[in-house]
Amino acid sequence: MKTLIPTTLSLTAALLLLPGVQAEPTLKESFKNDFLVGAALNPSQFCESNTAEAALVKTQFNSISPENVLKWEKVHPKPGVYDFALADRYVDFGTRNRMFIIGHNLVWQNQTPGWVFQDAAGQPASREQLLQRMRDHILTVVGRYQGRVKGWDVVNEALGPDGSLAKDSRWFKIIGPDYIAKAFEFAHEADPAAELYYNDYSMETNPKRSGGVGLIQKLKSDGIPVTGVGLQGHYTVDWPAANDLNTTIDAFAGLGVKVMITELDVDVLPSAWGQGSADITHNFALQQKLNPYPNGLPGPMERRLSDRYAELFGLFRQHPGAIRRVTFWGVADPDSWLNDWPVKGRTSYPLLFDRQYQPKPAFEAVIQSASAKSSRASAVEAATKPTETDSR
Ligand code: GLA
Repeated sequence: MKTLIPTTLSLTAALLLLPGVQAEPTLKESFKNDFLVGAALNPSQFCESNTAEAALVKTQFNSISPENVLKWEKVHPKPGVYDFALADRYVDFGTRNRMFIIGHNLVWQNQTPGWVFQDAAGQPASREQLLQRMRDHILTVVGRYQGRVKGWDVVNEALGPDGSLAKDSRWFKIIGPDYIAKAFEFAHEADPAAELYYNDYSMETNPKRSGGVGLIQKLKSDGIPVTGVGLQGHYTVDWPAANDLNTTIDAFAGLGVKVMITELDVDVLPSAWGQGSADITHNFALQQKLNPYPNGLPGPMERRLSDRYAELFGLFRQHPGAIRRVTFWGVADPDSWLNDWPVKGRTSYPLLFDRQYQPKPAFEAVIQSASAKSSRASAVEAATKPTETDSR
């Protein structure tokens, strides 16, 4: 007997009607009791010109971040000139699909045009001038999406490698150390209900961890409305060690702020310098030894990536209530910035979906980690389980 599939149904929906065909679990469903699962998007995804990826985003994720379209250089390229064309499309996509929409970012040293830091004569702007510009930018951008963008990366990467405030930041040089507090105050003024985050990389290890903890402690004790910390999560198969990541999550959660992994990817390629850095000013000439898998990831490395992802998600689940969101920096491998940084033109494999937008073994490993018992929960269970003596 022929089975007729109504043409109005999508193939996936039709398959679900067939006996014995199970729906694949999705990331957002699998972790719905743990945390939101997000992805950073580019215009081809949220304008839906890449239909395959747009579909993947809608199926798998319940939060989105804008890879570039809300950065200062895109949205406010010239004095007095704002361009919200793409940012509006991004926010509309998230709203239509009922996603938790993130704004990224308001104050950063990079991807901010030079004019922001200059006066009309091309000389460094004064503190008052730069503060006024910062306030205008934040009130305009955050104000436009008030109530729709639920959380903002207010300040990105203010700490140097030694954990103190980066002295080469033009924000720091012109305004002084209170530029961070001011940015949070302006964002709170623009949308009092929005969650406001400090976002940075390499806070998983010292000295940057203590620097980050000190910064958040000081902001909180000064009454500055910081509600969360983003660990960017640009990881490798070896870095950071699980115990360092656990310590960092506990340290920030202990300060009463939400903790998020905001830009997760796991690099399998050889490091072009030391590990653990995400300074985007580096760029190394393409060398063959730095691009060892141009035609596909060998099995053992694929397994290492899967094991690492399972370890990370297992670990995130061990912090119930502390980790609120885990966001990937990209959806599928061809999207990743790691194909072009710090070496241009490499073939990188840092995400859960491959170059054909199909789930990788790492995806399956992550899904399985959602149903594994968390080891903290098992430890509690073991400790409270009646012993033989108790049960007599
Ligand atoms: C940093 C920024 C992101 C992005 C990545 C690299 O982590 O926060 O916006 O630019 O670098 O793409």
